[in-house]
Amino acid sequence: MESILQNQSDNDIKEYCQLVRSVMEARLDGRTPLAFTHTYGCQGNVSDGERINGMLAEMGFGFTDDPDRADFILYNTCAVREHAEDRVFGNVGALKHVKNRNPQLIIALCGCMVQQQSVADRIRASYPHVNLVFGTHVISRFPELLYRTLTGGKRVFELSQADNSICESLPVRRDSAIRAWLPIMYGCDNFCTYCIVPHVRGRERSRDAARVLSEARDIVAAGYREITLLGQNVNSYAVKNAVSSDGEDWNFPKLLREIDSMEGDYVLRFMTSHPKDCTPELLDAMARGTHTAHHLHLPVQCGSDRVLKAMNRRYTREKYLSLVRMAREKMPDISLTSDIIVGFPGETYEEFQETLSLVREVKFTSLFTFIYSAREGTPAARMDDPIPHSEKAKWMKELLETQEAIAAERCAAMMGSRQRVLVEGVDSRDDSLFCRTGTNIVVKCMGSAGMVGQFAECEITDAKNWVLQGRFV
Ligand code: 5AD
Ligand code: SF4
Repeated sequence: MESILQNQSDNDIKEYCQLVRSVMEARLDGRTPLAFTHTYGCQGNVSDGERINGMLAEMGFGFTDDPDRADFILYNTCAVREHAEDRVFGNVGALKHVKNRNPQLIIALCGCMVQQQSVADRIRASYPHVNLVFGTHVISRFPELLYRTLTGGKRVFELSQADNSICESLPVRRDSAIRAWLPIMYGCDNFCTYCIVPHVRGRERSRDAARVLSEARDIVAAGYREITLLGQNVNSYAVKNAVSSDGEDWNFPKLLREIDSMEGDYVLRFMTSHPKDCTPELLDAMARGTHTAHHLHLPVQCGSDRVLKAMNRRYTREKYLSLVRMAREKMPDISLTSDIIVGFPGETYEEFQETLSLVREVKFTSLFTFIYSAREGTPAARMDDPIPHSEKAKWMKELLETQEAIAAERCAAMMGSRQRVLVEGVDSRDDSLFCRTGTNIVVKCMGSAGMVGQFAECEITDAKNWVLQGRFV
């Protein structure tokens, strides 16, 4: 077992935060500096963004939604699909005008996209108004890098692969007062052939169990109503490195049980689970827990054994379906959601039909669906891909129609039932409340904004466009 390096000490982070604070005070004559930050992509990135905002708050920054008022702008980027990258390039290009109006503005880019050398080179050459670029391995060095940008008189690019490092105790400014993300591991070792994540996020490494538990205790004590444990593959928590200084053995189900046993009024969720590592022990921990939601996000990606093999997913259709059966035996009310890729290189229409039949068989609560996007440097990007995008778009439409029919059936079956929901927010369009069941289904109810952040019982009264309507009881 390897040990984990922490890549910047708590003291260094505090010291650099203080230094940036002083520089900004002098720059702005004591006015509070304002930051505009935006995160793209998965919850892991959102969680990183909250830690970056935590460091900015420690440096004395306030926050704004208006780039024109900002003294510092940061995009935390995603590289999973080309479309996400195009949007970032578009937005960063537009910042040129903002910078012309405010030459003192500092513009920064971080996240998975800039960890790719080709992207970093393009920014260096074609986006001279970007001052600071830093990769996914050096987030804890953000205060130091910002200090260097402010005082060094030149652009800073820091993309080193400080692999085997982990950020344990960064300050965090959570986006929500109700839902908290709790990262338990970083990186991925699975190397699915289409996926860029292992290339930009580095090797799998798990956080210290004692630190995770203490952060979970703090979250519960602060009154958050939902905790989501995060990792690219939470089921391999503690497999690659020791996670406890007292020598105790950990695995993901044990961590889940330990957090679930904390007293309080909250729901416990986790994502993402790789089907190859989803065990009966995990399903038992979910079934027997008192706080753990009966919701499992279990990305299947496709329903054909040949394509699964080409994707390097390391399970078969039958193994996946047997997991689904086992989960439903242990938790008859379980809600299953999944990710699906349409049009993997070489996939035929017949093979795509196997995905459709799997979707019909499992009846997922909802799906995240993606048309395959070639990512430079991955094995799939070098495979023959003869099906045109327009054809894949037709397959996608078929998949969405299939899922909509399943969702409509589920809505009809829920009519008249009682559900315990967490009231998450107000829909400003009609003043109704967004609520979510433990099984991760959104229900809209009329009620007062004062209920936000509370658990409530509601009865399902109607379903419009696959959105359930309910009435508090
Ligand atoms: N093209 C399309 N979808 C992808 N995903 C990951 N890589 C790609 C890609 N190259 C999807 C997978 C994964 C989800 C987070 O994004 O379905 O589970
Ligand atoms: Fe990508 Fe596969 Fe790792 Fe998920 S498990 S991040 S899809 S390589």
